Amino acid sequence: LNIVVAASEVVGFAKTGGLADVAGALPQALAARGHRVTVIMPYYRTVRTGKNPPARTDHVIAVPVGSRKLACRLYGGTLPGSTVPVLFVDAPEYFDRDEPALGRGLYQQTMSGGYKSDYPDNAERYTFFCRAVVEAVAALGAAPDVIHANDWQTGLVPAFVKELLRSRPGFATVRTVFTIHNIAYQGMFGPDVMRLTGLPGWLFTPPLLEYHGHLNFMKAGIVFADAVNTVSPTYSREIQTAEFGCGLEGLLRANQHKLSGIVNGVDYALWNPATDALLPVRYDAETVFEQKPKCKAELQRRLGLPVDASRPVLGMVARLVIQKGVDLVLSASPGFLDLGCQIVFLGEGDPEYHNELQQFKARYPQQVGLYLGFDESLAHLVEAGSDLFLMPSRYEPCGLNQLYSLKYGTPPVVHMTGGLADTVVNATQESIDAGTGTGFGFGEYTAHALYETVKWALHLSRDRPAAFGEVVTTAMRQDWSWARSAADYEGLYRRVML
Ligand code: ADP
Ligand code: GLC
Repeated sequence: LNIVVAASEVVGFAKTGGLADVAGALPQALAARGHRVTVIMPYYRTVRTGKNPPARTDHVIAVPVGSRKLACRLYGGTLPGSTVPVLFVDAPEYFDRDEPALGRGLYQQTMSGGYKSDYPDNAERYTFFCRAVVEAVAALGAAPDVIHANDWQTGLVPAFVKELLRSRPGFATVRTVFTIHNIAYQGMFGPDVMRLTGLPGWLFTPPLLEYHGHLNFMKAGIVFADAVNTVSPTYSREIQTAEFGCGLEGLLRANQHKLSGIVNGVDYALWNPATDALLPVRYDAETVFEQKPKCKAELQRRLGLPVDASRPVLGMVARLVIQKGVDLVLSASPGFLDLGCQIVFLGEGDPEYHNELQQFKARYPQQVGLYLGFDESLAHLVEAGSDLFLMPSRYEPCGLNQLYSLKYGTPPVVHMTGGLADTVVNATQESIDAGTGTGFGFGEYTAHALYETVKWALHLSRDRPAAFGEVVTTAMRQDWSWARSAADYEGLYRRVML
C-alpha cells in the first residue's frame, strides 16, 4: 500500500508525548511489511537546527489559509535510523518559533512569569498544516491509498480529503484513517475559524463540523474519516461513555461501526535495556538483577538523592496534567515516605503541579528527586533505575511508559483503565502462580488504592523476592513490538479501501 502518515510531532524531530513515539515507529513497522510510507509533519525551528536537519526539496506548494495563499517549500528527511521518508512543511510564520520542540513548546509559548499557555493562533497553525498535508499529497502526484491522520492537530485532514482532494483527477480513491490518541484534547475554536479552512460554510452544522457553536477539529476527524480508531480496545469502549468521552461520546456511539481500538507498540530500537546507550550499563532478563542496581545508583546520583540500594525507588515520568494521576501520587506520597521509599519525578506541565512538587521536594530533600522539564535521557534512566514505575492515570488511551517499564524490568503500578488495563497483568497470588503477572494494578481511582497496591508490591519485593523477580522477568520477556499493531493497522487500511 501507499500510505501517508500526518502528525504534528515525530520522535527525533519534535515531541511532547507518546504521539511522537507512535508517529516515528508505526511508519517503520509498516515499511517493514513492504508498504510505501511517507510521514508529513511541520518544519519546526528545532527540526532545522536539530541533529537530523532535512534537505531542501524542489517542491513548493501553494496553501490557502483564509483569503491568503502561502507558498511553502517542502523539506525532505528520513525517520532516524531508517529510510522512511519524512516531508516537512516549511511555514516560518507558524512553525519557526523560538520555543523548544521538545516538550510543550510545540503548542505553547512561555509567558512572562515562566508558565506556558497555548499559542493564540493554534487554530490557524494547524488548519494550515492540515491543508498543507493535502496540497503536498496532490503535489507529489502518486495518489496514496490511505492518509492516516492523528489527533486534533490533523483532524481537518479527513474533511479536506473528502471535500477537496477526491474531486481532483487521480485522487478519487484516497481513503482516510483518523486515530484518536487522546479525546481530551479536541482543538475547539470559535466559528470564525471556518473562514480560515476554506471549507464551504454549510458544513458548519451539528451533524458535521459544528460542536455547540464551535469548530471542533477532533469531531471533524471522527465525522469525515473513513475509519476511526483509538490506541487501545478498552479506551475505544470507554470514550463512548459520558465519563470518558469528553462530550463526544454520543458522536462516537453513532460512529461505532467505523470505530476500533489498536494497542500501540514499542520501538525496541529506542527502548530496550539490552542496547540502550543512555544507561550506565545494559541488561536483559538474564542479567537484570546484577545490572539494574547500577542504574538505580546512577538515578539516585543524578537526582541528588542518597545512593542507597536498600531504599525502594518509585519513579514517574509524565506530562504533569490531570490525566496522569499526579494528584493521587501526591496524596499517597507521605505513606510512601513512611514505607522508606524514595520518589522520583520527571515531568512538566501545569504550574500547580510544579509548585506542589517543588514544595514536596523542599520538605523531603533526602527522599524526593525532581526534574521539572523535558529530558529524554533522564526518562530512560528513570525507567531503568526505579524499582516500581508509577502510572496511576485517571484515564489512559494507551500509554507507552508502562510498556517501556515492562521491558526495563520495572513493574508498573497502574490504575486499570484504558490501555493500562489492556497491557498490564496485575500480579495477584493467582497470576504469580500462573506465571502471568507483569505489574500491579488497582481498580478504584483513589490514593488509598494506589498506596495499598504499592505496599503489596514492596511486600513482595522484600519478603518474597523470588515471586517479585518472576514478575520482573515475565514482563521483560513480553513482546510489545510494533509488528502486531502494524499488522492490525494494515488490516484497517485494507478495510477502508474495499
Ligand atoms: P502521553 O502520550 O499521554 O504523554 P505516553 O506514556 O504514551 O503518554 O508517552 C509519553 C512519552 O513521553 C514517553 O516516551 C515518555 O518517556 C515521554 N515523556 C513524557 N514526559 C517527559 C519528560 N518530561 N521528559 C522526557 N520524556 C518525557
Ligand atoms: C496520547 C495518550 C497516550 C498514548 C499516546 C500515543 O498522548 O495520552 O495514552 O499512549 O497518545 O498513542
